[in-house]
Amino acid sequence: MRTHYCGELRSEHIGKTVTLYGWIDRRRDHGGVIFLDLRDRDGIVQIVSDPQRTPDSYDTANALRNEYVVEIVGRVTQRPDESLNPRIPTGEVEIYADKIILLNPVRKQLPFQVSGADTDPVREEMRLRYRYLDLRREKMAKNLQLRHQVVKAMRRYLEDNEGFIEVETPVLTRSTPEGARDYILPSRVNAGEWFALPQSPQLFKQILMVSGCDRYYQIARCFRDEDLRADRQPEFTQLDMEMSFMSQEEIIELNEKLVSHIFKTVKGVELQRPFPRITYAEAMDKYGSDKPDTRYGLELVNVSDILKDSGFKVFNEAIKNGGIVKILPIPNGNDAISNVRIKPGGDIFREASEAGAKGLAYIRVRDNGEIDTIGAIKDNLTEEQKQELLTRTGAKPGHLLLFGAGDAPTVNKTLDRLRQFCAKEFNLIDPEKMNLLWVVDFPMFEWNADEKRLEALHHPFTAPHPDDINDLKTARAQAYDLVLNGFEIGGGSRRIYQRDIQEQVFEAIGLSPEEAQAKFGFLLEAFEYGTPPHGGIAFGLDRIVMLLAGEESIRDVIAFPKTQQARCLLTEAPSSVDPKQLKELHVESTYKPKQH
Ligand code: AMO
Repeated sequence: MRTHYCGELRSEHIGKTVTLYGWIDRRRDHGGVIFLDLRDRDGIVQIVSDPQRTPDSYDTANALRNEYVVEIVGRVTQRPDESLNPRIPTGEVEIYADKIILLNPVRKQLPFQVSGADTDPVREEMRLRYRYLDLRREKMAKNLQLRHQVVKAMRRYLEDNEGFIEVETPVLTRSTPEGARDYILPSRVNAGEWFALPQSPQLFKQILMVSGCDRYYQIARCFRDEDLRADRQPEFTQLDMEMSFMSQEEIIELNEKLVSHIFKTVKGVELQRPFPRITYAEAMDKYGSDKPDTRYGLELVNVSDILKDSGFKVFNEAIKNGGIVKILPIPNGNDAISNVRIKPGGDIFREASEAGAKGLAYIRVRDNGEIDTIGAIKDNLTEEQKQELLTRTGAKPGHLLLFGAGDAPTVNKTLDRLRQFCAKEFNLIDPEKMNLLWVVDFPMFEWNADEKRLEALHHPFTAPHPDDINDLKTARAQAYDLVLNGFEIGGGSRRIYQRDIQEQVFEAIGLSPEEAQAKFGFLLEAFEYGTPPHGGIAFGLDRIVMLLAGEESIRDVIAFPKTQQARCLLTEAPSSVDPKQLKELHVESTYKPKQH
């Protein structure tokens, strides 16, 4: 029987005989004395075997290799002074192994070294292909445990303090519109019909409110077939919540308490409440983003009014066509960012053009305060305009001012990207900071230029602001996002609970009454049977754990993630299926493999 996990052993255990199970992390032979690092999910402890003191275990110890699975019975002993290891929690002790039983050797060459002592980088494809080895590593094992701690803190807080109950909602369902493509599954029993995997439990949680459930939560798996990034997976997990009879303020307060509880329990960090808030309009104006990282300044400045009558065509036309001109002022940018970097071929230019910008105008303020401009800006802006730009942006000697000009979405996207790029380059980000920020007062809709129609910014079940109800198309929504260090970690809203308003919103996004009835008839009908006012939120669990773990990719906090190509390298899913299966499902593939 196991008496302890490896990582638990301390000087207080000296003299005890312990039984441990685990993997050999490393084996060293120091002139006939064998040292083994034994690892389990909890940590590492040093095992010693030599022919004099532990003759019974010596031969086995000698034959062990990395990743062999063993049982070890031994005495906990004080390490001699010269071999104390303050870098690991068990570094004061070692175990003299009276008995070692080899439970299972490794029969193949390891594809990479599991031991944390081996610092060679391992390609992510290899880590995902041999995920079981990767998850044995200390960092990954810690991430999984952290994830578990976060979920546990969520459950404890919501259930024990706030009276939420967990309800499971179906995975085989209809499409729920969250703005991504659906994963769909053919029905064998109902020929020609399809289920969709839920993009979120949105409609079911609203129906649960109609059912009188009052406070619902679920650790819910969601599926979205969208382009992947470091913070996006096709299959991810939400902490999904919905509550009845609560105002937006009450919902926000409850969630601040929940998030504070999680940070306190898991990280020991005391968050300041209330969390800061910013309106969507202000966030876009100052940061060009609805999920700004507020750990550093570099705020954008709108200068359209100063430049609307300038002689510079690019600025003039942008403003005339309803666009904007904004500046990203970069203190000390004059020295650090050369002209070559801002011009085509340079790294700053590349960042801007990847965000859609066509060019990058700039002004330098030399160390002696002289304004340095070239090209069109030099020829077309008056001294007065240049001075006004410096005053408006607060530019000092050493500043570099980068311009974005064009339609607002492109300008914002460009300058947001450059802002983040410069923050990294100039080391402006304090990694210890945890900046939480509510973004509120989102517009109900945004214009989808490709489809030439309004689109719900959150989703079409979000309630309009009561003051804006007369003009739905320009109305603000009762919606709120929670942002942590530039990542959207949660989003929610108060919901529409009256049939007529829901119908108006469907109409605004271009759904005909017939389509609305066909897709959401059950919801519209439910609204007529006594629906309470309600609202909720969903947090991205993977993103929260990623940020708490200090990781840069959510793949590092998901046990079995998909690659950027939406594949599982461990099981090799997705895979082709037997034509018989397709036939049973009444499906025929149109895919023709490319001929090479
Ligand atoms: P939303 O679509 O904003 O809202 O999702 C909520 C949160 O889920 C996380 N998230 C993701 N995480 C990883 N990979 C993805 N592909 C992914 N997509 C979203 C984000 C996001 O903030 N039903 C509404 C919630 C509500 O209104 O109550 C919804 O799903 O952290």
